[in-house]
Amino acid sequence: MSQLEKLMRPHMAKIATYHGADPSAELAREAGIKPEDVIRLNANENPYGADDKVSEALTKLDLHLYPDTQQRNLRAGLSEYTGQPVERIIAGAGGDEIIDLLMRLFVERGQKVIDCEPTFGMYGFSARLADAEITSVPRNETWDIDTSAMLEAIDDQTRIVFLASPNNPTGNLLTEPDARALLETGIVVCVDETYYEFAQTSLSHLLEEYENLVILRSFSKWAGIAGLRVGYAIGSEILIGHLMDIKQPYNINIAGEAAVLAALKHRDKLLKRAASLVEQRIRIEELIDGLDGISYYPSKGNFLLCRFERRTAEEAYVRLAKHGIFVRRFPQSVLDHSLRISAGTSEQTDRLIDVLRSVV
Ligand SMILES: Cc1ncc(COP(=O)(O)O)c(C=O)c1O
Repeated sequence: MSQLEKLMRPHMAKIATYHGADPSAELAREAGIKPEDVIRLNANENPYGADDKVSEALTKLDLHLYPDTQQRNLRAGLSEYTGQPVERIIAGAGGDEIIDLLMRLFVERGQKVIDCEPTFGMYGFSARLADAEITSVPRNETWDIDTSAMLEAIDDQTRIVFLASPNNPTGNLLTEPDARALLETGIVVCVDETYYEFAQTSLSHLLEEYENLVILRSFSKWAGIAGLRVGYAIGSEILIGHLMDIKQPYNINIAGEAAVLAALKHRDKLLKRAASLVEQRIRIEELIDGLDGISYYPSKGNFLLCRFERRTAEEAYVRLAKHGIFVRRFPQSVLDHSLRISAGTSEQTDRLIDVLRSVV
């Protein structure tokens, strides 16, 4: 350990980098192919890109001005979209920032955070940054959460449980009885609905009953602006008020704000695109039904967790990558034979199916 590292907060010095999706040029270099041949089905991004109206809104910004610390226009737009009062909404630099803010607000060093593996990696990452203890309760064979094991794991040091619905990467939903059972414990329950616009189902009606519920959403996937980093949370007035107090004052930049307002204005078109990605996911499912050696887990998101019967995930990944198709692999042993494939355009699905035939 270097002298400088000895000065660091010990838990911070030990944090391992979070590896997100690499840029296409890097993927191409690794696979020995041309960057223009890369098909990105690895980050649940929107293959249609941002809408023209959204891009147009970004050409008329007063870049020399600071954004509004109170996010007034943005929260008003989100309030109209969600039907929730402004006081119950906060925007973050992606859902990722909201996860981090929840840790800052609720979790002290050594306290406990619970998630359900396999799931989105940022819950564990942010918990480690907070020097919290992360308990990952395994999901069952249909990827449903094990509520009784979770209730057992919750103790007086437990502060937050994170539950994605649809869950990434498994694609299944959190049921209302399971959510209620956890909410009844009184700890903070973050229901992460990043893929809401694809699943078209929400537990937000429970906000009326539980002040310890936080619903997380994002503009990265359905609205196609992952690069601008905007997500939001809906929760009780008291919880959101405190999150507003502790956030970085200018956490949403003016490009993000303008893009979200334009996306909301043109939401019909964007929601149709989201629906077409669901259609592509269903096409992938139907095509996989006709192939031997590969199966999938039912999904409500814009992605599908596929299981290779005769190949390891790593073998399948490498073969797909050679053909320019990049998907997501996972370190957990329970996913040794599984890869997550994002729904793409119809041409990308055609190509995917051709390649899958030879890979399985
Ligand atoms: C379940 C889940 N939650 C949150 C996020 C974070 O999304 P963003 O920070 O882009 O809003 C993702 C991104 O992949 C996700 O899959």
